[in-house]
Amino acid sequence: MKIVIDKRDNILQQAAKLISDTVSAKPDCAIAFAAGETLKQVYSELTKNPTVSFSGCKAFNVTEYVGLENDKNGCASELYEELYSKLGISEIHTPNAENFESYDDEIAAAGGIELAVLGIGTNGHIGFNEPATLFDTHTHIAKLTDKTKAMKAEHFGGVDNVPVEAYTMGLKTLCSAKNVILCAFGEEKADVVYNLVYGKTSTYIPAAMLQMHMNMTLLLDEAAGAKLD
Ligand code: GLP
Repeated sequence: MKIVIDKRDNILQQAAKLISDTVSAKPDCAIAFAAGETLKQVYSELTKNPTVSFSGCKAFNVTEYVGLENDKNGCASELYEELYSKLGISEIHTPNAENFESYDDEIAAAGGIELAVLGIGTNGHIGFNEPATLFDTHTHIAKLTDKTKAMKAEHFGGVDNVPVEAYTMGLKTLCSAKNVILCAFGEEKADVVYNLVYGKTSTYIPAAMLQMHMNMTLLLDEAAGAKLD
């Protein structure tokens, strides 16, 4: 695993460059994009001054809340607003009730995920693969934990408004991506980042599965990386 710890602005630029370089090398590649506040900052940097054309690239949303497929609070709307509309990406795939069981086949038909762009939950989730998710999961419906719902409460204007379930690429789906970048910012992510890097690869910290990934880059600001040696 390659680990980069730097000032947040530098990390944002590095993340944007890694994404752009991937598309530059393979303009028709499939990229898995996760949602969340951390990646919002990456997408803002990426869309500020794009250096390559993204129009041939195929976007695969990592997650979507059950019932919010067409809602402004859903991941698809968020990613469309922040990213796809600004970069001119028109081929967009979202897991939903109709396709979630065949979503991994859609990914395979697109040539596999060239790059997965991920964040991490404070409980170690990637996508919505919560603790105790099995290692060999494909895209599925996940029940959100109380910790995840609490983390998302602000976004939904209260914990009671947070959906209880979400479609998510599975751990196997994400770990099958040829390249992975995972971004984490802020002090509240420092413990989980430590566990991602040094923890046992148990289902307790799903993100720790990425320790075994051959092309994994962890991009941290100084606060999120503070507990690493
Ligand atoms: C959600 C997403 C994850 C993301 C996580 C981090 O739970 N499903 O893919 O990694 O949020 O969120 P944030 O960046 O807002 O802390």
